[in-house]
Amino acid sequence: MIIVENLTKKYGEHTAIDRLNFHVRKGEVVGFLGPNGAGKSTTMKIITGFMAPSEGIARVGGFDVFENPIEVKKRIGYLPETPPVYADMLVRDYLTFVAQLKGVEGASLKTFVDRAIEKTHLGAVQKRLIQNLSKGFKQRVGIAQALVSNPEVLILDEPTVGLDPKQVAEIRDLIRELRGEHTVILSTHILPEVQATCERIIIINHGKIVAQDSLANLSTLKSGSRRVHLKVRKANADLQERLKALPGILAVVSTSPQDWQIDATESEDVIERVASEVIKNGAGLLEITSARADLEEIFLKLTYGNEAGGLA
Ligand SMILES: Nc1ncnc2c1ncn2[C@@H]1O[C@H](COP(=O)(O)OP(=O)(O)O)[C@@H](O)[C@H]1O
Ligand SMILES: [Mg+2]
Repeated sequence: MIIVENLTKKYGEHTAIDRLNFHVRKGEVVGFLGPNGAGKSTTMKIITGFMAPSEGIARVGGFDVFENPIEVKKRIGYLPETPPVYADMLVRDYLTFVAQLKGVEGASLKTFVDRAIEKTHLGAVQKRLIQNLSKGFKQRVGIAQALVSNPEVLILDEPTVGLDPKQVAEIRDLIRELRGEHTVILSTHILPEVQATCERIIIINHGKIVAQDSLANLSTLKSGSRRVHLKVRKANADLQERLKALPGILAVVSTSPQDWQIDATESEDVIERVASEVIKNGAGLLEITSARADLEEIFLKLTYGNEAGGLA
């Protein structure tokens, strides 16, 4: 549905995005994750036809965004970084206005506006002035205007930025409801956002894609390490040294005399080996759990760690 090839944007001397390549299939919900300044908004502005790339191509539903911007815009609903707010319009009037701009007419007009209002739970405020709404409701109006022409593709630039936790949860629910009906790309600089809503994520840093994969693959298969939490009754003095000496153990840290945290290379039998060493030590094993390195660590490594680093 969306094809991006070697997409590059330079602002003067500054390269904001550098040869991006990715595809998004119909019905997918893809998260564009990266710290501020990574190039997320720039990419979205190009895909939606609001800005020309310096090089490379972007296609939506088979149409090149610059050869056929009208065809592309028909298929896309866009929530920009700073949503266009017509503060002195009523919610319903504004949505009707946007739908008309997008070519919705006749009997469809009321149906489409009703549907956007219903999806974004704006029914109770549809006759209110936009300027009198809370930030959370304004953001919903922004999403409603993206939805109102019932486009195949939705591009949402940081849809939860500046909202309180309850509002964030509501927007996340809404995005989950859109799954399957629309192809969605959303951007965010916060990881829980993509974890909550997206099937696939593209991590971007300094204008380059540093990883792209399904959420499941990124958080497990590629992490290559495992963290074991250990609770013991009373460790003997040499436990730390003995654990460190086991094959595949990277680090052993005791966070309290009873609690230990062990990082190990990904291996099936690491738990078994740690448990048997603890028992030999006479420490009294109370609890042992293991988790794969989580996506947050991967994200931080990719975006704040080694500049040249990447998983791909
Ligand atoms: N209009 C512009 N003129 C010059 N530089 C810009 C402009 N817009 C964005 N940039 C720069 O391009 C880079 C990417 O910005 P942006 O796409 O907004 O990132 P993000 O949305 O990931 O925070 C940043 O370094 C930013 O300062
Ligand atoms: Mg941005």
